[in-house]
Amino acid sequence: MGESKQARLRRNILHRDTDVRIDIESVSVSFGEQSVVRDINIAIEPGEIFVIMGASGAGKSVLLKCIAGLLKPNLGIVKINGMDASERETHHEINSTLVFQAGALFNSLTVFDNLAFFPREHKLYKESEIKEKVLETLRILSLDHAAYKIPAELSGGMRKRVAIARALMCEADMIMYDEPTSELDPIMASTISEIIANVRNQFGLTSVVVSHDRDLAYGIADRVAIIHKGELLAVDSPENIQKDPNPLVQDFLNPTINIDDPRFKKLETT
Ligand SMILES: Nc1ncnc2c1ncn2[C@@H]1O[C@H](COP(=O)(O)OP(=O)(O)OP(=O)(O)O)[C@@H](O)[C@H]1O
Ligand SMILES: [Mg+2]
Repeated sequence: MGESKQARLRRNILHRDTDVRIDIESVSVSFGEQSVVRDINIAIEPGEIFVIMGASGAGKSVLLKCIAGLLKPNLGIVKINGMDASERETHHEINSTLVFQAGALFNSLTVFDNLAFFPREHKLYKESEIKEKVLETLRILSLDHAAYKIPAELSGGMRKRVAIARALMCEADMIMYDEPTSELDPIMASTISEIIANVRNQFGLTSVVVSHDRDLAYGIADRVAIIHKGELLAVDSPENIQKDPNPLVQDFLNPTINIDDPRFKKLETT
């Protein structure tokens, strides 16, 4: 009898193949009449930290969901090591994990059980080893004191860190983060940037990060992409992107605050 999908996933997780490349080829996504991602082409190299930036509503989370295989593009394809990301089979070969923008924790489970869920479900380790890994991961993210709380008892920033901690427990070959530093104070935001960089350095994980955080992008990205209204404006190293001549790139990276903007005149008179 052939190996079950569960057994294959378990074997792949325990014998990780971390050389994961992602090819986004002519990807477009629309919802009804609204076109939100238009003809995007990006090749992400194995082990790269690739940061996707852009204004709110630009289509970043939608593009990330296409990479994660949660959404099938209307046109084009995302390939993970040459396999279609929207096919279930691909995810039995390559174990990927997505840290959602809003955390997506199991609300009725304690922080400890949220982290232990994946290794227990896939019977990766003995319970004593799982406990050790969970406590170590919580310690790295300064969450040791929160192990037996449930998500409703945590601050927004703590929930964010639990979501990252849970993703680290998945022993993934590639990892995606949606706004990992939003809602965090500047010190915790830089700690999270360091964790993302360390996770990559330690495991060679291809890491895709959607973020507005320039400090994160300039500090840890190998390359940065800027998306504007669903279109790719630029892809380059953090150093080069800061010098990009496109005014839309500059407006996004270095916005000016104009309190005399005519848009606000109406507010003043009401
Ligand atoms: N499931 C969906 N159905 C309909 N429209 C959607 C859906 N998901 C996203 N959209 C629309 O697609 C556009 C892009 O959304 P997306 O979530 O990718 O933005 P974003 O760049 O991640 O923004 P933010 O920085 O605010 O998270 C938005 O106009 C949004 O309303
Ligand atoms: Mg988003």
